[in-house]
Amino acid sequence: MIFDPAAFGLTPPLDLVNLPPEKTALSIENLDLYYGETQALFNINMRIPKGQVTSFIGPSGCGKSTLLRCINRMNDLVEHTRVTGRVMLNDTNVYDKHIDVADLRRQVGMVFQRPNPFPKSIYENVIYGLRLQGVKDARTLNDAAESSLRAAALWDEVKDRLNESAFGLSGGQQQRLVIARAIAIEPEVLLLDEPTSALDPISTLTIEELINALKTKYTVVIVTHNMQQAARVSDQTAFIHMGELVEYKDTDTIFTTPSDKRTEDYITGRYG
Ligand SMILES: Nc1ncnc2c1ncn2[C@@H]1O[C@H](COP(=O)(O)OP(=O)(O)O)[C@@H](O)[C@H]1O
Ligand SMILES: [Mg+2]
Repeated sequence: MIFDPAAFGLTPPLDLVNLPPEKTALSIENLDLYYGETQALFNINMRIPKGQVTSFIGPSGCGKSTLLRCINRMNDLVEHTRVTGRVMLNDTNVYDKHIDVADLRRQVGMVFQRPNPFPKSIYENVIYGLRLQGVKDARTLNDAAESSLRAAALWDEVKDRLNESAFGLSGGQQQRLVIARAIAIEPEVLLLDEPTSALDPISTLTIEELINALKTKYTVVIVTHNMQQAARVSDQTAFIHMGELVEYKDTDTIFTTPSDKRTEDYITGRYG
């Protein structure tokens, strides 16, 4: 008998190859990236579903961060970088020469490995992006601060110290603060590059629960070198090896029945 996930109340995995446009947040097409003469990404093609969590896994140096940074053009900041191919966000290619990169980064927020709060109060950190946009109304700013901190699962811990320096928070709290700052401007996509690798196990679990909650509102793409984390948080997982997208499937399939030998070797810990 064919296993029918729906019969068990489970959502069947999406068909990532034929993902329809209305379910697609990002479509990466024939993407190559060169750092100077060295090619770091080779003909990447993938559709990233809306409102889900997608992980990039693979050995150190395989190109996970490079691929993530292509999505909001953070690689533009690296000299001598050349990209060919397309990254479609809705109906626009983010590499189109008419794209306003600042605007793109408002739509596609990013959180890095080390929490990077600004030397300001907790409150000012969260509303930083809104101030940049020229929002002045105190009520609007207060509401945004509260709802973003709640969404980042930090409100209860900081509501009585909003005017204190963000540097007084623990590492895990700082990372949630940075996530609150990213979502305060309501991006469509949130990119997380190893967001828990500098955190203790308890803070890591808190962030993982948060990621799971965020996908009701945002499309989340996360780079992790921690396979258990990918298995816990993501709906689909992409295995990258030496700049190539080797296998991209729903997370269960990648971890239980990978079809490529390189994926299998990686998830069984043969290299890493
Ligand atoms: N700014 C850069 N300039 C030149 N080469 C780089 C740069 N950043 C990364 N690379 C190279 O690109 C490859 C992929 O790196 P990266 O995307 O950081 O891998 P990962 O995140 O999977 O560890 C590596 O060989 C790395 O040395
Ligand atoms: Mg990296």
